[in-house]
Amino acid sequence: MDKPKVVLGVSGGIAAYKACELLRRLTESGHDVRVVPTDAALHFVGAATWSALSGNPVSTEVWSDVHEVPHVRIGQHADLVVVAPATADMLAKAAHGLADDLLTNTLLTARCPVVFAPAMHTEMWEHPATQENVATLRRRGAVVIEPAIGRLTGVDTGKGRLPDPDEIFEICRRVLARGTAAEPDLAGRHVVVSAGGTREPLDPVRYLGNRSSGKQGYALARTAAARGARVTLIEANTGMPDPAGVDVVHVGTAVQLREAVLKAAADADAVVMAAAVADFRPATYAEGKIKKKDGQEPAPIVLVRNPDVLAEISAERARPEQVIVGFAAETDDVLANGRDKLRRKGCDLLVVNEVGERKTFGSEENEAVVLAADGAETPVPYGPKEALAETVWDLVAPRLRASDTTDSDKSG
Ligand code: CTP
Repeated sequence: MDKPKVVLGVSGGIAAYKACELLRRLTESGHDVRVVPTDAALHFVGAATWSALSGNPVSTEVWSDVHEVPHVRIGQHADLVVVAPATADMLAKAAHGLADDLLTNTLLTARCPVVFAPAMHTEMWEHPATQENVATLRRRGAVVIEPAIGRLTGVDTGKGRLPDPDEIFEICRRVLARGTAAEPDLAGRHVVVSAGGTREPLDPVRYLGNRSSGKQGYALARTAAARGARVTLIEANTGMPDPAGVDVVHVGTAVQLREAVLKAAADADAVVMAAAVADFRPATYAEGKIKKKDGQEPAPIVLVRNPDVLAEISAERARPEQVIVGFAAETDDVLANGRDKLRRKGCDLLVVNEVGERKTFGSEENEAVVLAADGAETPVPYGPKEALAETVWDLVAPRLRASDTTDSDKSG
């Protein structure tokens, strides 16, 4: 079988050196990579490096090998184009369809999925011009992954770092796995995913918690980003590094999680509540560490109810067409209990996990049935959490499209 053909576009930012690592990951995993650097990118990393690492000639301009019509052929034959780093200038050119060098020509002729991994200073990323260009590209189906937060060139820190090359590679792998013809069906959508488990403090050193690893939520966030969504991940105590390409909000308790979810859900198209939210919290919080006292029994811990975030956002939807997904862990009468919970929570889909021997917390695998409010049931066989995540988005995406049709019917 032919190797998948990847075009790695590199635009002129200091993060170009990190694209060498991405290139290595792509070639080592069996991709045929053609690097197309811009003139500016060559100031940072020279053509010899790209050629040696890719094992392919490096095309830098439209005027070489003209008989091969490179400005058209490279894009036409690609299975994936990934631009890393994508500067503010490159995003602007791509959004407006300019074609003044080989990379921008390639972007105009590519009919395959396109991934942009932006890197720039925070001010440039936040500028309305850049934000509008990003929105335009996403609306057209490009995957624009969110920059990471951290150290930038010089003394500055903030949002704008190129995501870790491994993370960009993972997104490319997922986009390619979905097939060259597959539309990034969450392009232009904002999705919110909660992940992990809340911790309810008793005193400054102790808490009531649960064993949720957050891996399912992370898989949901990553797969949604690869399908083109803008993703907000509300993370509770997972201890895992932030996934690339998504906005991460860190929370500790159920009350903090509620606040973060409500805020992010205000303009979200879909909300997936994968977090294990504590149903109860200690009624009081001791400002100082609770000490044992000789000869005295410990005081009982009194608990109070936490807000049920899933039920709340389902009942009072920020947008009527929003798709809301919950998770439930059941040991007995899985389907009957799941149906009952789906009704009580008022969400559109409920992913019901059977909690059992093989299905331990923290594992890489999962098995579930996705119940829909319209009565449909989608079994997901035992397999990677990523596969379950893809199934969830497979069920969410058509519901979003259906609501688009209803909206345009109303306006028409
Ligand atoms: N959930 C929530 N707020 C809570 C508790 C749970 O939003 N205070 C959400 C979880 O994120 C998950 C779903 O509701 O999507 C799980 O519901 P829950 O009733 O807690 O189910 P179980 O954990 O299965 O517990 P139980 O059967 O005891 O109700």
